[in-house]
Amino acid sequence: MTGADTLRMRVLAQEDVIRCGATDPAAVLAAVREAFLLKAAGAAIEPAPATVGLDAAPGQRMVAHAGWLGGPTPVGGVKWICANGDNPRLRGIPRANALVILSDPETGLPRAVVEGTVISAMRTAGATALAATVLARPRSTRLAVIGAGVANRSQLALLRHVLPKLREVRLYDIDAARARQWAADEGARHQVEITPVTSAYQAVRDADVVVCATADSVTGYVEPDWLAPGVFVAGVSHNDLTDAAVLAADRLVTTDAEGTSTAVTRIGRLCGDGRLERSAVDDLGAVVSGAVSGRREPDDRIVFDAWGLGILDLAVADMVLRHAEDRDAGQAVPVRGAPHWR
Ligand SMILES: NC(=O)c1ccc[n+]([C@@H]2O[C@H](COP(=O)([O-])OP(=O)(O)OC[C@H]3O[C@@H](n4cnc5c(N)ncnc54)[C@H](O)[C@@H]3O)[C@@H](O)[C@H]2O)c1
Repeated sequence: MTGADTLRMRVLAQEDVIRCGATDPAAVLAAVREAFLLKAAGAAIEPAPATVGLDAAPGQRMVAHAGWLGGPTPVGGVKWICANGDNPRLRGIPRANALVILSDPETGLPRAVVEGTVISAMRTAGATALAATVLARPRSTRLAVIGAGVANRSQLALLRHVLPKLREVRLYDIDAARARQWAADEGARHQVEITPVTSAYQAVRDADVVVCATADSVTGYVEPDWLAPGVFVAGVSHNDLTDAAVLAADRLVTTDAEGTSTAVTRIGRLCGDGRLERSAVDDLGAVVSGAVSGRREPDDRIVFDAWGLGILDLAVADMVLRHAEDRDAGQAVPVRGAPHWR
């Protein structure tokens, strides 16, 4: 474009985002995989998120996850995600609500503002699913889901995509009514039997795959002897396992070993206390790129921490935006005419 053209950016609402691939497991997985490969190759930048902690309600915060992804067509932007743990119960809306802003990294011009709530949940699930392809046992059948929220809706969809033999799903939430509703919704959506149970132990014992998406403030409750040989545990919330359970794991893998080992997570605290070596924590990107091996032994208990990365939001938002441009979805909103100042 020239300086005289009207500058437009695309605005994508939730419905556009869904129409353009945000809930397509294969498309999300491919975008997330590419982002991890770029990260492993050093072609990604992800500064620490900027967090505005409000804390008037549980988990009330506003967080900016900025990032850049290289590759043939670089992507730059930020996810702005604002959360309040009381939202589902008091307002009937998601705990976390997000926007993704994409800019052209070369010119700095805005490309799009994209509704990011679905993208955020899907990119997180994409990371877990990618990890499951290299760290879970492919014949896994029993899944334990802890937390009947938004995050685990996408986790279930993506885990079933990569582990199609998962069919026995047990669900635990401290809110039994929410668990019943979630089981009914997701059971119908995926044509799978989901059994709400009355304790986390009942869900986790002898599960092949465990996914915890509860609250970041939760006190660790998953003990080492709950975890069956060969289990793959995904921590979407980061504190559900006790110190002993993390330390007893045969492998620890995270989306970002550097970020996770310095963050307010179970793994971060254990590294900070000197009880865990940072070098004992592998990066998912290194595993996916083949630099580090995936599952080594069938009986290994592997714990994956899905520390949130903005580059994954950007990768999925960019995939969605490309589809939207192809089919002219959403609105191309004028941002300005000729620049007011040059
Ligand atoms: N939504 C996302 O896109 C996203 C992305 C990355 C990470 N996460 C993380 O995942 C977690 C869940 O997010 P969400 O958006 O699904 O929240 P949510 O509030 O929709 O759901 C969380 C559920 O966990 C339940 N819960 C709380 N403590 C529990 C416990 N001790 N045992 C069992 N259940 C418990 C709550 O009752 C609630 O139903 C948060 O820690 C969040 O930071 C979410």
